Amino acid sequence: MTDTTTNHKTDTASSKNDDRMTLEILRYIPGTHSEPTFQRFDIPYVEDWSILDALGYIKDELDSSLAYRWSCRMAVCGSCGMMFNGVPKLACETFIRDYYPRAIRVEPLENFGIERDLVIDQEPFLEKLESVKPYIIDAMANAPSGKPGAPASHERETIQAGENKQTPKELAMFDQYSMCINCLLCYSACPQFGLNPAFLGPATISLAHRYNQDNRDHGTADRAPALNEKDGVWSCTFVGYCSEVCPKSVDPASAIQQEKVRGATDWALSWILPKGAR
Ligand code: SF4
Ligand code: FES
Repeated sequence: MTDTTTNHKTDTASSKNDDRMTLEILRYIPGTHSEPTFQRFDIPYVEDWSILDALGYIKDELDSSLAYRWSCRMAVCGSCGMMFNGVPKLACETFIRDYYPRAIRVEPLENFGIERDLVIDQEPFLEKLESVKPYIIDAMANAPSGKPGAPASHERETIQAGENKQTPKELAMFDQYSMCINCLLCYSACPQFGLNPAFLGPATISLAHRYNQDNRDHGTADRAPALNEKDGVWSCTFVGYCSEVCPKSVDPASAIQQEKVRGATDWALSWILPKGAR
């Protein structure tokens, strides 16, 4: 058949004649379905289609009720995370040719509630993220002038002037962690999060670490309670699959271990140092 849309042309040179593929998609529409069930779709095999293109074909040509998230089509927005044959990946950078001629089983990201079809409930993650204050907290926020811990006058002037210069070495301390696109693949890969949904989890801890490592930030103490409580860094058993599936080469497993070291050091120092020096 000829597809008239620009997103998924079936008449490209890379299409293999009349070859077909099957996508088995987990469907769940609250109020319509009593439970999630797989539905099979027969689609043309087009070598340069991503799985996101294939979903677009199904939505435009076969079943407009299919729901899934996407936006950028270039692995930047983090919207299109799904499970393909049990592995969490981004739909826009995963190609059907890597599965052909096998069927592809498409499911919503594991370990999350389903809102509809392939759309997961992100609310619990957003609450966790908020709890670690993922933004730069400047010295002025926590130390009013004249109080213990207040920044020196030259530092206050620098902050007020809006200067935030950093050396390449200082940038390297947090650079990779700032690449996170909140796609949540790491949460689907994490067996600990699967067992304990209260676990703060890989991306949240990575982003907390990103700001704790930033020399412009003065919010480490503000993030410590969430990171060091029982569902914080200490729930991680260092399986490491979160880092394997990350599409942006962030290493959440290493961020978590570094925050464990920070938490343990702070705890030890709290016993040694006099109160005013902690
Ligand atoms: S750490 Fe990687 S896998 Fe996890 S949310 Fe960020 S980009 Fe996605
Ligand atoms: S559509 Fe934006 S990451 Fe895939």
